[in-house]
Amino acid sequence: MRKSYVISLLFVGVVIFACSSSRKNSYVFPTEMSSSVQASYKEICDKGKVLYDIHCAHCHTTKKWGKELIPDFTSSQLEAYRIRIANERHEPIMNDEQVPAEDLGMIMTFLTYKSKSGIVVNQKNLDNH
Ligand code: HEC
Repeated sequence: MRKSYVISLLFVGVVIFACSSSRKNSYVFPTEMSSSVQASYKEICDKGKVLYDIHCAHCHTTKKWGKELIPDFTSSQLEAYRIRIANERHEPIMNDEQVPAEDLGMIMTFLTYKSKSGIVVNQKNLDNH
């Protein structure tokens, strides 16, 4: 009885480890952000990543050697209103019903703090509005 309990606990541990290591997202938070705030931002970012994968990744993520490359949008590009109308391809799929403000907020938090990929979108328009 005991032994099988220990074995099943070990199994659960291994499964949790495998899942968490394969889904590890990396973020860069400002050093002055306290670790408790970082922990709550990390949770928002993880949710934002899931929503990004649903709503945005098929157009914006490229893959190189199996690694996901997500663009580094600038802070001015990451404004909800601007995103909703950023492109004629956005307009039909990005009204408040399809991507509610709360979801878009989590996506923007994720895109703000994700580690950099070096990929820029619309470089010629950067921050000059
Ligand atoms: C149907 C394809 C498509 C989807 C889905 C999509 N985008 Fe875009 N997006 C584009 C295109 C095309 C552009 C123009 C720039 C480019 O060619 O990459 C763009 C531009 C942008 C820009 C730059 C805007 C600017 O002002 O310069 C941001 C930020 C952005 N998208 C964010 C998002 C987010 C966040 C999502 C998900 C909620 C998303 N996009 C979903 C196609 C898409």
